[in-house]
Amino acid sequence: MKQSGDRIRGARLVVLGGVAFLAAGCGNGQNALQPHSPQAGSIATLWWIMLGVSTFGLAVVVALLVASWFRRDREGRERPATVTVVVLGIAVPVLVIAALFSYSDIFLIRGTSAPSPTSLVAKRALKITVVGHQFWWEVRYPSGDVVTANEIHIPVRTPVVVSVTSSDVIHSFWVPELNRKMDLEPGRTNQVEIYASKAGKYRGQCAEFCGLQHAHMAFYVFADPPDVFARWLRDEARPATRTSQLFLDRCSNCHRIQGTPATAQVGPDLTHVGSRTTLAAGTITNTLAHMEEWIAHPQAVKPGNQMPELHLTDAQVHELATYLEGLK
Ligand code: CUA
Repeated sequence: MKQSGDRIRGARLVVLGGVAFLAAGCGNGQNALQPHSPQAGSIATLWWIMLGVSTFGLAVVVALLVASWFRRDREGRERPATVTVVVLGIAVPVLVIAALFSYSDIFLIRGTSAPSPTSLVAKRALKITVVGHQFWWEVRYPSGDVVTANEIHIPVRTPVVVSVTSSDVIHSFWVPELNRKMDLEPGRTNQVEIYASKAGKYRGQCAEFCGLQHAHMAFYVFADPPDVFARWLRDEARPATRTSQLFLDRCSNCHRIQGTPATAQVGPDLTHVGSRTTLAAGTITNTLAHMEEWIAHPQAVKPGNQMPELHLTDAQVHELATYLEGLK
């Protein structure tokens, strides 16, 4: 009974979270046809060209079908169909597809690849590392001791090279408005460049089925003016100033809070969790009530995730949630 109650409560929470995201506007920053980088622009252009050519091809086929229907009873000279089949059925499609392939590969898709390590772009790029976990994103910045989760901050109009890998299964890093997808593979590092030509918040999503909560493996990219980004990075490097004995007793086997004895790295780094906008990889908004719900019933909010039910009392849940929300 208790479990089904938890499920209903969790489902309600997730639905409410979803509604809140939708209400935040159609501009939720996850529309591949609203590109905000040259790379995403190329991909959108290719999509429109493909749509145009395919629509034209379909129109020709439908027109031929309709014409043959109207001419079905006409007496006439029997003509072998071989020429029609070879020309319209094989030669023309092969030519069209070859032309589209060459155009997309040479003019569009190559530009979406990460810059070569020796190029000028790569030298001036910010380099970050993203590690995929079931079902969240670990984000590491090279400068300082900055580790965060599920929210990536970058300076606007600056190339950012993201090195991606996985700690468990294959995931796929995808920010539709900024660039193409890139697989996160265990034991291997791939790279993708993200560049935001406009400041804003862009939604990313795991694009490779990775388990029960694949759909709830989201993240946000915040593209900020360089001074705002620099301030954020400075703040993130600061260790926590408060310790919670309850946290150390119950949560420090999995989580790290910089500046405290909690150093585990199984789950997300929580040093500045209070300053993030969402919890559970974009599943719910980050409020005290949601934090309490998440700590008390993680398997109801996001069934199948790796966070165990700790069977805490209401008072303990409140104490932990208040402590974590205070970690700005
Ligand atoms: Cu990670 Cu799908």
